[in-house]
Amino acid sequence: MMKPKVFVTRHLPEAAMQKLQSACEVEIWDEEFPPPYDLIVEKVADKAGLLCLLTDQIDVNLMAAAPNLKVISQVAVGFDNIDVVAATKRGIAVGNTPGVLTDATADFAFTLLMAAARRVGEAIDYVRDGKWETWGLTLLLGQEIHAATLGIVGLGRIGRAMAKRARGFNMKVIYHSRSRKPELEEMLGVEYRELDDLLREADYISLHLNLSDETRGLFDARAFSLMKPNAILINTARGPIVDSEALYLALKTGQIAYAALDVTDPEPLPVNDKLLTLPNLIVVPHIASATVASRTQMSQMAVRNLIAGVHGEKLPFPVNAV
Ligand code: DGY
Repeated sequence: MMKPKVFVTRHLPEAAMQKLQSACEVEIWDEEFPPPYDLIVEKVADKAGLLCLLTDQIDVNLMAAAPNLKVISQVAVGFDNIDVVAATKRGIAVGNTPGVLTDATADFAFTLLMAAARRVGEAIDYVRDGKWETWGLTLLLGQEIHAATLGIVGLGRIGRAMAKRARGFNMKVIYHSRSRKPELEEMLGVEYRELDDLLREADYISLHLNLSDETRGLFDARAFSLMKPNAILINTARGPIVDSEALYLALKTGQIAYAALDVTDPEPLPVNDKLLTLPNLIVVPHIASATVASRTQMSQMAVRNLIAGVHGEKLPFPVNAV
């Protein structure tokens, strides 16, 4: 029997690749950089399945060029690069990889919180630049973490995991989400706030939202104007939730104290971007879920979604109902 044909837009860990090859006829773009959009369009023309990353733009035109496409399997929990509405209209199943990266991502969001609070990036540069000549009473002073207030925006899986870490550090945790979640408040020890109130009250603000029309640019000049001068912003969600120009001005003028970004807009952030001239900013290259265990499991889940989809079965980790 002929195996279903699939296109894979980037190298996968060996075990996931083997499983996929045993079930499908696999064509892979095995380069370090993403395949050009036009190449994906060409490749999916005769494929039943597409396994993609968040760097691939999967839009309605691409789907129109793929008459046999049954499934789009994303190796990530976020899927804002995929037009899910268009996929659903065409009866194409979309899958993602929730859950297995929750703890790794929350661990890393907390790592960024601590690194910004205690100015770890600046301190490393200070030593490497040969500036460490004596112990100083006021050298590289940072902010307290314990007993400070963390504002979590978005109380999904990763937001909740972040709340648990913060409670372990004896922080007060407040949250905002589209709908209030009374059942979680007692369990996690968190209090609900309207977004503006959270912005006014929090010492640390950590973003755990999906990117959507509603959340794009949510952190704009107005939002920064409400935040405390000691506020530290942590973004491990999606870059465009924060208006980069407004963030630059807020950090430059001392409207807020610090920011730590795992995600940026644009992404990657060009090396000559003016954000990178700021001393009170940490930027890392979208690595919050980058542990061996998380990325291995994400790949395996994506392969399971792809195999189920090409066989017309319900995806184990579905995004849409088709
Ligand atoms: C995701 O899964 O959406 C992250 O951004 C990358 O792991």
